[in-house]
Amino acid sequence: MSARRTLLLGALGLAVAGGLWSLSAPRPMDASALAALDGDARAGSAVFLAAGCGSCHKAPGREADPEILSGGREFASEFGTFIAPNISTDPEHGIGGWSQAEFINAVMRGVSPDGRHYYPAFPYTSYIRADPQDMADLYAYMMTLPADATPSRPQELGFPFNIRRGLGLWKALFLSDDWVVTGDLTEQEARGRYLSEALSHCAECHTQRNALGALDTGRWLEGAPNPSGRGRIPAIAGPDFDWTEFDISAYLESGFTPDFDVVGGTMADVVANLQQLDKEELDAIAAYVMRAR
Ligand code: HEC
Ligand code: HEC
Repeated sequence: MSARRTLLLGALGLAVAGGLWSLSAPRPMDASALAALDGDARAGSAVFLAAGCGSCHKAPGREADPEILSGGREFASEFGTFIAPNISTDPEHGIGGWSQAEFINAVMRGVSPDGRHYYPAFPYTSYIRADPQDMADLYAYMMTLPADATPSRPQELGFPFNIRRGLGLWKALFLSDDWVVTGDLTEQEARGRYLSEALSHCAECHTQRNALGALDTGRWLEGAPNPSGRGRIPAIAGPDFDWTEFDISAYLESGFTPDFDVVGGTMADVVANLQQLDKEELDAIAAYVMRAR
């Protein structure tokens, strides 16, 4: 190879690497716009329930106190084990020292205050569709919760998944704030879509993932292997699901299936949260699920 050609190839290689590097850079939202939002803690408590933050961040073995968000719950995956961090108001071990803008950028963009990417085991992949005002309300509410000084544990992932910068490429491919179910939605269906696709992240559990761990939107809500390794998470859309709108809303409110089975598995936490919302919210989710099929 001539020296010129080597030089050219080298320059090309550098350009590609540089391109990938800049493509993988975190893309936070404008901090001054986020800082200007005025949050309401009362409204935020409903966002907290709808978004299910406590289901993942409460301390294992301390379920009696769902307001202690000291983390520690483990989530097995084919990439390694993710461990929910402490998001209590402790200034050192939790998020007590975070600004509203830092908080919203973490939840809606998966970017940490020091500019690193979070793993999508933290479902910002859904929360990206949220209304920033709801996130400001959520921040105001979470800042009223107790502090706990339990240190967060590092994620247990092997190479190359332990390199956070690589997540920037994953985000460039898969992170999107587009709605999945589109078309002419009624006001109720649109509210249900907001709750389901943005806050309550139904699809994160009920939709199959591709080899890179991203949701397969072509099989939206059609069921998925259970990440615990045991059994499947049922379909709530597609030919395998024959519940009525009434059945779905009643299940989210009471935890009973139409056959009088009691809700179990990770869905038990979802129901425990959602049943504290207004019944209209559950009806809206049910209307959306019917629409999604
Ligand atoms: C499905 C489980 C799950 C849910 C639901 C969830 N999280 Fe998390 N969260 C995680 C995991 C796992 C991480 C660690 C991600 C990482 O280290 O890359 C995390 C990280 C975070 C962080 C970063 C903490 C730090 O120390 O840097 C914040 C803040 C956070 N979550 C807040 C929330 C809020 C607010 C909600 C609800 C809107 C929420 N989470 C819902 C699993 C979850
Ligand atoms: C954290 C994971 C997770 C999330 C988030 C989740 N689900 Fe589920 N869901 C499950 C699991 C697991 C089951 C099976 C429950 C059981 O075995 O009793 C289930 C069961 C159901 C069922 C009963 C289906 C059947 O055939 O038995 C419905 C309906 C349902 N979910 C709707 C929803 C809706 C609507 C949302 C969003 C508002 C949602 N789920 C969010 C995990 C989840």
